[in-house]
Formats: sequence, structure tokens, C-alpha cells
Amino acid sequence: MDGNGRWAEARGLPRSAGHQHGFRAIEALIPAACEAGVKQLTLFAFSSENWQREAREVQSLMQLAINALADLDDEHHLLQEYRVRFRIIGRRGRFPKLLQQRIRAAEELTQHYDGLTLTLAMDYGGRWDITRAARALAREVASGRLSADDLDETHLAEQLCTGDLPEPDLFIRTGGETRISNFLLWQLAYTELLFLDVYWPDFTAKHLTEALGDFANRHRRFGGTPAIKVAS
Ligand code: FPP
Repeated sequence: MDGNGRWAEARGLPRSAGHQHGFRAIEALIPAACEAGVKQLTLFAFSSENWQREAREVQSLMQLAINALADLDDEHHLLQEYRVRFRIIGRRGRFPKLLQQRIRAAEELTQHYDGLTLTLAMDYGGRWDITRAARALAREVASGRLSADDLDETHLAEQLCTGDLPEPDLFIRTGGETRISNFLLWQLAYTELLFLDVYWPDFTAKHLTEALGDFANRHRRFGGTPAIKVAS
């Protein structure tokens, strides 16, 4: 979800205003994604590197997340209205305590919801995820529960934060940059990539529909032949 800062700067607003409008774009995206039949939506909301930003900006992002997860019992809360299963991937121990509590409460409350699964990557980095998985497997091998020769890609994939999620079909980066920036590095191996020249706060249901249309016309081969056209 790149481009919040530039969206705000272009309007002479503080960067936090860009994040607020970015949050509104998420609020509009959830109903659109549900309507389009998307079952999994994973958003990169805060990277491990984002702690390096000014304290004020970091705090505004934390506060946004805290506010977003308030009043979860309200039937009009988006998670309730759309039966969204909510979860976080990343290191949660460095967040404010209140945010950690609200994340836990939201995950527990929505764990059996069967609409969209919304995964927020927060304090997340792809290399951190892979390193963590490697460490867990090293422990398994050291303890004798797994032999190094039997260790395969499935073992590693299972240890990642996304171990119980399907591999992503489509990656969308807004904001005009054409890089992955340490997002789901392992998981994106065969994902279709789409880079949009639109700032995240301007991303709408229309962009989602177009992105899904674009995806439907891609030919996915997963390294093999012949070309398989994805179902529209
Ligand atoms: C990248 O844009 C965006 C972020 C670092 C934050 C994404 C957060 C939101 C969309 C708001 C919702 C947040 C939570 C916590 C639920 P940038 O600031 O790097 O933009 P720039 O490249 O234009 O400076």
C-alpha cells in the first residue's frame, strides 16, 4: 500500500493524513473484495524497516491500527458486517501493549468467520520470516525430530507466518515503484505481479476490478508448459 506519504505531500498535508486516507481506502476495499469473491487479502501495513520513520509518523500508524480495532462488538464494524477473519503476521512484541491486546481480541473474535480472511503484515519482513522459519527447522533437526536430508520446501513453507494460507495469486503494489521491498519473498515465487502508478489513498474498487481483470488474462505456467489460462 505505497504512496500515502506522497499523496499527502502533494496536498500540503502531513504524512499522517496520507495514512488516514490510506486507511479509508482499506475500508472501501474490504466490501469490494468480498463482493468480487476474494477469499484472502494480505496487506503490507507496516514493514520491519518502518520503525526508522519519525516517531510522530510511527505513532500515527499505531494509533490508526488501535482505533481500527476498537468497538469490535459493534455489528456495524467492518469485520462484523462482512464476517472478516482478521489476523496479523509479523513481530507483534514491539507494538504498544494496547494494540497487542486489540489484535489478540480481534483474532479471537473473528477466528471462525468465513468471509474474507484479512491478513495484515505488521512489523513484517520477508527475510525475517524466512530466517525465523529456518531457525525453527534448525531446532527440529538439532532435536532429532527431523532429518536434514528429509527437509524440503514444504517444511519451510509450513514454518512461515503464512504456513496455513494459500500462496498468493496476485500481488499489487501501488505508488509507482516496481519492487517487492521485502514483502512475502518466498511466497511470491509464482505470484502474478502488478505495479500501479496510483497512490494507495486513491486506490478504489475500480482499480481492484481492473486488477482482477488483468489477472484473469495472465497465462500462468508455474515453470511448466503448456500455458494454462487462469479462470476468469
Ligand atoms: C507506505 O506508504 C504505506 C505505509 C508505510 C503504511 C500503510 C498504512 C496504511 C494504508 C494505513 C492503515 C494502517 C494500519 C496500521 C491499519 P508511504 O508512507 O511509504 O508512502 P510514500 O512512499 O509516498 O512516502
